[in-house]
Amino acid sequence: MASLNPERPLAVVTGASSGIGRELARLAAQDGHDLVIAADQGPLDEAARDFRALGANVEAVEADLSTSFGVDKLMLAVGGRPVDVLVANAGHGLGHAFLDKPFNEARHVVDTNITGTLDLLHRVATGMRQRGRGRILITGSIAGLMPGSFQAVYNGTKAFIDSFSFALRNELKDTGISVTCLMPGPTETHFFERADMLDTQIGTEDKASPAEVAAEGWDAMNKGQDHVVAGWKNKVSAAMTNVVPDSMLAEQHRKTAEPGSARH
Ligand SMILES: NC(=O)c1ccc[n+]([C@@H]2O[C@H](COP(=O)([O-])OP(=O)(O)OC[C@H]3O[C@@H](n4cnc5c(N)ncnc54)[C@H](OP(=O)(O)O)[C@@H]3O)[C@@H](O)[C@H]2O)c1
Repeated sequence: MASLNPERPLAVVTGASSGIGRELARLAAQDGHDLVIAADQGPLDEAARDFRALGANVEAVEADLSTSFGVDKLMLAVGGRPVDVLVANAGHGLGHAFLDKPFNEARHVVDTNITGTLDLLHRVATGMRQRGRGRILITGSIAGLMPGSFQAVYNGTKAFIDSFSFALRNELKDTGISVTCLMPGPTETHFFERADMLDTQIGTEDKASPAEVAAEGWDAMNKGQDHVVAGWKNKVSAAMTNVVPDSMLAEQHRKTAEPGSARH
């Protein structure tokens, strides 16, 4: 805590060691925020060095945010300092058929993407409501708009997060706090490797750059928008989910996410 400067706004960014979260933390640093960043096992020190080079004071917290203990550890690093921006971004997927993976791996996806995210939001947004100001950016996904055969638990968690984000925004509409849901489509990060999906079509096709996705999210948050679907292709995919039956979306997802579906 001692290294943070009370004169500068504070952004808390989870999942800042790589991918979209790292780019979001970079944007926060470029915009003059100090940072408390968190990840589980990723190269956080290296990320922290990058952000310090941009003038930010940075506190890096290694914590498994699927657990209350991990969220406690992150909040301890925040140390009661007012949080101006919360980027609740940490999350991970899980490929393969539901029954072909041990249940504890599915549980970790749920506990990270839903329970840990909500625990953190509850604690930070309570402080924001007391002060009557704050911005929250939650990384949902267009995956939440479709049943995710061979990634069923992940898509379910993102359906929860997408929905929750809109509801929380509505509950907080007269409080000075804005809630924005960043809904990326497939993005070039460690996500697919970590989810064991490198032999799938979706895991091997061209994807959006995390810097571009983060820029769209950061911009939408600063404008106080309710959500942004990153990239025009994903805007089309998202619109399609309104008219295509869920059974067809599930079949389509099978084609891109089933193990062995990669086009070599
Ligand atoms: N890539 C995509 O195609 C895509 C599309 C839509 C939405 N998203 C969402 O975007 C967010 C960021 O993912 P990404 O694509 O940038 O993947 P990534 O490069 O794997 O980054 C994920 C970040 O979350 C952290 N994280 C994961 N589980 C954690 C846990 N239990 N506790 C603490 N930190 C944890 C990771 O840290 P460790 O490595 O240390 O665990 C890492 O910093 C996720 O919520 C993901 O669901 C991704």
